[in-house]
Amino acid sequence: MSDDWRASNRVGRIGKSAIHEMTRLSKQVEDVAFLSWAKPTSDTPEHIKQAAIGAIEKGLTAGYSSTSGLPQLQQAIAEKLNSFNRINAEASEIIVTVGAIEGLCAAVMAIIDPGDEVILPTPTYSTHIRQVVIASGKPVLVPLVEEEGFRWDIEATKRAITPRTKAILYCSPSNPTGTVFDEATLRQLSEIALENNLMVITDEAYEFFTFDGHQHFSIGSIPEMRRNTISCFTFTKTYAMTGYRVGYLHAEESLIPQITKAHIPFAICAPVVSQYAALAAIKGDQDCVAKFRDHYLITRDLMCERLDRLSSVFAYVKPGGSYLMFPKILVDGGKTDSSLFCRKLLQEARVSTTPGIAFGPTGESHLRLSFCVSEDEVNKAFDRMEAYFG
Ligand SMILES: Cc1ncc(COP(=O)(O)O)c(C=O)c1O
Repeated sequence: MSDDWRASNRVGRIGKSAIHEMTRLSKQVEDVAFLSWAKPTSDTPEHIKQAAIGAIEKGLTAGYSSTSGLPQLQQAIAEKLNSFNRINAEASEIIVTVGAIEGLCAAVMAIIDPGDEVILPTPTYSTHIRQVVIASGKPVLVPLVEEEGFRWDIEATKRAITPRTKAILYCSPSNPTGTVFDEATLRQLSEIALENNLMVITDEAYEFFTFDGHQHFSIGSIPEMRRNTISCFTFTKTYAMTGYRVGYLHAEESLIPQITKAHIPFAICAPVVSQYAALAAIKGDQDCVAKFRDHYLITRDLMCERLDRLSSVFAYVKPGGSYLMFPKILVDGGKTDSSLFCRKLLQEARVSTTPGIAFGPTGESHLRLSFCVSEDEVNKAFDRMEAYFG
C-alpha cells in the first residue's frame, strides 16, 4: 500500500518496477554492457519509416482514426491472423491498440471485476501482473516447472481454479523465459477454459521469433475457443517499432463493443501515423522479420555458448523463442537475492541485467538476459562477467 494519501489503493498495491529501476541505475554507469532491455535494438526498416513520413506529408495523420483503427489496417490484420495464426478473424473483430500493452489492459479491464482471479504462469512478464492488479483483480501465480524446460503445469492450473477464477493470462513465446508453449499444452489449457467458463487472454508479442523447430500456436485458432479468447499482438517486436506504439487485439465480434468501452478512455485510437507505418509493415516485404529472427538465433546461440563457460555461476534452459532467457544463479546455493546480485553486477562488472524477482516470486535467484543486441554486446558483457566471476 502507498503511504501517500493522494494515491488510490489500486496504484498503491503496485510496487516499483525492478526493470525501470535497473534502467535508471544503468544510466549512471559509463560504457555499460546492456542486456537488460527487451526492446529491439535494430532500427525500424526503411520502408516502414518512409510510410510514416509519407502519411504525414499527405496530411493524413492530424486527426483521429476510427476508435478500432484504420479500416484498411484492420483488414490487413484480419488477413494475417487467418493466414499466419489460423485464427478465423474478420476485420470487424480487430481493435488496433497502443501497442500490445494497451490491448492487454483494455482486455483485462473489459472482463475483470474487482476480486476476480486471474491465473498467470510464473515467472511471467510483470506488466501482466500489474494489469490485473490495476483492474482490482487478484493475480494467482502458478509456477512453471523449470526442471522440465519451464513446462506449464496443467494439473497445478486445475488446482488453482476457484469460483472466482475469471481468466488465464499468458505470453508465448514467454518473457522472461523464452518458452514456447506448444499446441498440445495450449489445447489442454483450452479444455480447462471451456470446462470452467474461463476467458483466456494471450500476449503473442514474440510470435515470429521461434527457433529449433518450435512452432508458435495461437489458442484463438481453436474453433471452440472463439468466444473465450482475446488475443493480443504487436508491431513492436516483429518490425522493431517500439516507439510507434501500435498493436492490435482480436476477439469474437460480440465482445468487441465491451472491449472498446475500455479502449476509448485510455487511447481513443492508436496513433494514426503509426497505423500508416503498421500498414506498410504488414503489407510489405517480410524479409526484415526473417533477418531479425536470424540475428536473434545467432545471438541466442552465442549467449548459450558464453553461459556454458560460466556453468559454475549460471544454469539455464535454452529458450525456444522470444529474445530473452532466464538463467538461474547458482552461487549462494541457488538462494540469491536477484536484485542485489544484478546491482553488484552492474556496479562492479558494468553489466546491466534484470533481476528475476521482477517476474514474480518464482523468478527469485534468476536474472533475465536479452539477446536482441549485437554479438559484440553479448561478448562485451560476457568478457566482463568471466573476468568478474574469475
Ligand atoms: C511479453 C511482452 N508483451 C508486450 C510487450 C510490450 O509490447 P508493446 O510495445 O506492443 O506495448 C513486451 C515488451 O517488452 C513484452 O515483452
